[in-house]
Amino acid sequence: MVGLPLVHASNALLGTTIPSPSAVFVGGTSGIGLATLKALVSHTKTPCIYLIGRKESAGKEAIDQCQQQNANAQIVFLKADCSLIGEVDAACMRVKEMVGDRGLDFLVLSTGYLNLEGMIETKEGLNRELAVTYYSRMRFISQLLPLRPSHILSILGGTKEDGPLITSDLGLKKNHTFFNAAKHGITMTSLAFEHLASTHPDTAFVHAFPATVKTGLFTKSFGWLVGLFLDWIVLPLLRPLTTPLEEVAARQLFHLTSARYPPADLGERNERAGVTRPVGVDVANAGKGWYLLDPKGECGEGKVVEEMRSEEWPRKVWEHTTASSNEAAIKGKKE
Ligand SMILES: NC(=O)c1ccc[n+]([C@@H]2O[C@H](COP(=O)([O-])OP(=O)(O)OC[C@H]3O[C@@H](n4cnc5c(N)ncnc54)[C@H](OP(=O)(O)O)[C@@H]3O)[C@@H](O)[C@H]2O)c1
Repeated sequence: MVGLPLVHASNALLGTTIPSPSAVFVGGTSGIGLATLKALVSHTKTPCIYLIGRKESAGKEAIDQCQQQNANAQIVFLKADCSLIGEVDAACMRVKEMVGDRGLDFLVLSTGYLNLEGMIETKEGLNRELAVTYYSRMRFISQLLPLRPSHILSILGGTKEDGPLITSDLGLKKNHTFFNAAKHGITMTSLAFEHLASTHPDTAFVHAFPATVKTGLFTKSFGWLVGLFLDWIVLPLLRPLTTPLEEVAARQLFHLTSARYPPADLGERNERAGVTRPVGVDVANAGKGWYLLDPKGECGEGKVVEEMRSEEWPRKVWEHTTASSNEAAIKGKKE
């Protein structure tokens, strides 16, 4: 476990180590994503942020909050419904035009919602819940990897991998349930990251479980009545098991920027490792470039990962992901 004081001490070094990061935040208009964005903005000097979300009003509100923390932060909002691969592609094209030769330091992905309504198919033919939590996140990654980000952080359920997956229906077109969607989204993310770290060794791929934290997730996902019940009755009763949003955000910033989680191959660009590790904190997972993290920054993995690794599922999951997203993009263009 990485102690919180060490996390704060490491984050405090960002202003001198990486004073002007360029970063893309997808899902940073609320909750854990927004709190992590605010933490990055407040710890750096002149950050340049591309914030991607589906609502202009939420984007404007998020930018206002960030600029209250750091008036020198440059933040551009790009509108995209991340359930649609076509909109993800359009947003990525705009990011690439704007970033140009500067390249990207960080990509943070935290889009999500919980779906109790059963299978919903997008007009591109993907399971909507998986499109938001998995396929679109992976599409951002594959489209933005040419900008050579040093660190990619997906905030979802690292260490919570579970099986068995329905390998004949990874995209859950016929087998959607609430639990299958959670299981597939989380486990496929971890397997895909292991594969990507082998094909892109100069980027670190971090999949984190953030802890249970009170955000607008329940209200937005289940409607205001059930959401209010969960937020104001259930979560307070579970308070000993929940973590304050500010702590979760500080830890996500540490996952994103600490040399504890380096790319597998730094080449000659040692500065891409991130903020120097605090004394007594080791490099995680032998510096392999992919990190499945629990809320306290420790690596772990569900038993299913070992089983699926032995059958080459990291590669197979990535091939499935690429093919399904390409198919969705083509279908979307025909609509
Ligand atoms: N909170 C927890 O206790 C907890 C625990 C474990 C894992 N997680 C996971 O962590 C992630 C972040 O959770 P959170 O609590 O921060 O939730 P949140 O506050 O609801 O944030 C989710 C973000 O996703 C965006 N989003 C949802 N659908 C979108 C779409 N179609 N297009 C573009 N953006 C979309 C939301 O944008 P809008 O502002 O437009 O809604 C929001 O910015 C989720 O995947 C969640 O499952 C959360």
